[in-house]
Amino acid sequence: MNFNGIDFDTYLKNYPDANGYFGKYGGVYVDDDLKKAMEEITEAYFAICKSRKFIAELRRIRAEFQGRPTPISHLERLSNKLGNVQLYAKREDLNHTGAHKLNHCMGEALLAKYMGKTKLIAETGAGQHGVAMATAAAYFGLECDIHMGSVDIKKQAPNVARMKILGANVVEVTHGLATLKEAVDSAFDAYAKDYKNSMYCIGSVVGPHPFPMMVRDFQHVVGEESRDQFVKMTGELPNAIVACVGGGSNAAGFFSGFLNDPVDIYGIEPLGRGTKLGDHAASLQYGSEGIMHGFNSIMLKDENGDPAPVYSVASGLDYPSSGP
Ligand SMILES: Cc1ncc(COP(=O)(O)O)c(C=O)c1O
Repeated sequence: MNFNGIDFDTYLKNYPDANGYFGKYGGVYVDDDLKKAMEEITEAYFAICKSRKFIAELRRIRAEFQGRPTPISHLERLSNKLGNVQLYAKREDLNHTGAHKLNHCMGEALLAKYMGKTKLIAETGAGQHGVAMATAAAYFGLECDIHMGSVDIKKQAPNVARMKILGANVVEVTHGLATLKEAVDSAFDAYAKDYKNSMYCIGSVVGPHPFPMMVRDFQHVVGEESRDQFVKMTGELPNAIVACVGGGSNAAGFFSGFLNDPVDIYGIEPLGRGTKLGDHAASLQYGSEGIMHGFNSIMLKDENGDPAPVYSVASGLDYPSSGP
């Protein structure tokens, strides 16, 4: 299968290319110091992802700590109510900490430990990535700073409490809209000042290479597991698969398990209050090419070409771009 010139049969092996591009999107748009830090992370990642010890350790963590495999549930009553469809849900909510985010957090933290880093830095929107990161830091005995917009801190108070209980330091971000994009800005700044001791563990398939690749790879377990489980459960493939798209981590992981199958794939973006710029965060639907947070992708831009303000009632989906 082929889409936008990308051959899905060899997608996981061939993308991104050596410079971190998926077709024309991706790359490393950061200053020279950070570029060096990214190269070190890339090198370490390629070394450990081929190491049997790392793979065995991640598998053990997934089974013994995370609660993988997560089940697929047949949504029988909802399906009967709708009448003409059978709906199934891949239960990433049953991962320890309540979301798919722990899949890449445990991988990123294990990599940080391998690289001798002592601190994890991350941003969070809904607080799910923050809670997962704080959990990974507690598991590996690392310090942890979570940057979060003040609007989200108020909206997602229970997750803020969980991060603190887990021993993380929650850094309040007050500039701009004080939501997810600003939290990423702030986490990036903090990381740039301390990249020797710390590791920035990005919360989605965004940011400079190698983050989109690493997060996709760590999330691939969702798609792989789902395909196997669904075929065992029903004897066939689903007609269609659906995921929400904020940065795109759950979607990239889930979709990448079905790329060679005759399955329709739907990514759902937040339309918020409507189609007017500033009222939604449907970046792929309404955006155009642009660079932000160290990567080139499709982005919602204001009249100056800067990232536009976005809106969604769902913290964590309100991001003006999506993974390359
Ligand atoms: C539970 C949950 N699902 C999905 C998302 C969207 O992020 P992504 O598109 O990177 O999976 C978030 C973001 O915070 C989340 O908390």
